[in-house]
Amino acid sequence: MMKQDVKDEQVAIDLYKEIIARADKEADTTTKQLFETILAEEEDHLDLFRGLLGK
Ligand SMILES: [Fe+2]
Repeated sequence: MMKQDVKDEQVAIDLYKEIIARADKEADTTTKQLFETILAEEEDHLDLFRGLLGK
């Protein structure tokens, strides 16, 4: 279960990075900032799950 959580977090992180890049390209500052905030949260989750797995 925890390994799947790590995979899911990574999928979300990759998706949010794509959204941020697109928003940046389109000069959509609000969307970029929103997803940067969400990305930071997801990265914290990933760190947590990896820590729990000892990786
Ligand atoms: Fe998450």
